[in-house]
Amino acid sequence: MSKITAAITGVSGYVPEYVLTNKELETMVDTNDEWITSRTGIKERRILKGENKGTSHIAVPAVKDLLKKTNTKPEEVDLLICATTTPDMVFPATANLITAEVGAVNAFGYDLQAACSGFLFALATASKFIESGQYKKVIVVGADKMSSIVDYTDRATCIIFGDGGGAIMLEPNTEGLGIQDSILKSDGTGAQFLFMKAGGSRRPATIETVQNREHYAFQEGQQVFKFAVKGMADVSAEIMERNHLTGDDVAWLVPHQANKRIIEATANRMGLSNDKVMLNIHKYGNTTSGTIPLCLWEYEKQLKKGDNLILAAFGGGFTWGAIYLKWAYDPK
Ligand code: UT7
Repeated sequence: MSKITAAITGVSGYVPEYVLTNKELETMVDTNDEWITSRTGIKERRILKGENKGTSHIAVPAVKDLLKKTNTKPEEVDLLICATTTPDMVFPATANLITAEVGAVNAFGYDLQAACSGFLFALATASKFIESGQYKKVIVVGADKMSSIVDYTDRATCIIFGDGGGAIMLEPNTEGLGIQDSILKSDGTGAQFLFMKAGGSRRPATIETVQNREHYAFQEGQQVFKFAVKGMADVSAEIMERNHLTGDDVAWLVPHQANKRIIEATANRMGLSNDKVMLNIHKYGNTTSGTIPLCLWEYEKQLKKGDNLILAAFGGGFTWGAIYLKWAYDPK
């Protein structure tokens, strides 16, 4: 019997309608379009507006569209893993809210939190369920409503993040396509540079923590930048080397969209020209777990069966990693 690999058989995405432009941010904090564009590559980002709307409201339309695109009945889904840093609630898992909403009544689900590397870590995890032979249809969601934890008085963080996400279907493949290799890393000594100060079990919410604005994402940008440039480039080069890939063999780099300069440094190190790098940071900013599936969704029509893709991410934790996969289908 041929070896089972885990292949992506469909992808979908969703971004909320509201567009928060650099111009509008200029009216909120002391910043300007020129600074944001030259330092990050971001022009605008999407924001999920409305009462009682959480990350599941980004994930559900993406999953519904994914089911439609892949001709999958919701009851056929075995498992749904939701990578998110902004779950609808501390518990239950957002994955459960999504499966209930889309009618995936036979699926079990759980959330996975690895900040900006969440989708990458969830995809690697999901692939093992498929490779085991026990599960046939696994959905991986990467989605975040970052506007729920962004301080719109802090110009160092509010210009970067946006809301959005996507979902992929993972199924067994016996042609050798799909996920070939992954390298995942984390280093908790980096936690101090990108985290939320209160709201967890260590420092539950109090009037003081709210007044001190400690329920927002805190970031020491320069420190994170330094580690991100090295981490993402190192791991991408490592996964190419150990799979004997040169820049010519790689069809696409699918990088986490945190800062255009980090993406360019990674592509440089891999020997890739710009036309092989998926980029949508100018439109959506950093959607944390959402960036990689949103890229795959937007570039899907340009992907061909057998294309070598390297997915790479770096995020809070610190967490980082890369996945090497062979794309499993031609544009439909
Ligand atoms: O996705 C997960 C991981 N996150 C990342 O990968 C993000 C990594 N970090 C970054 O992308 C960058 O560090 C930022 C985009 C966050 C900041 O860019 P930077 O080039 O590192 O800027 P900086 O923090 O070193 O600040 C440079 C200057 C400072 O002014 P002075 O001290 O030189 O006078 C800041 O106060 O720019 C100032 N500044 C701003 N000016 C206008 C900081 N934020 C802004 C702003 N508008 N929004």
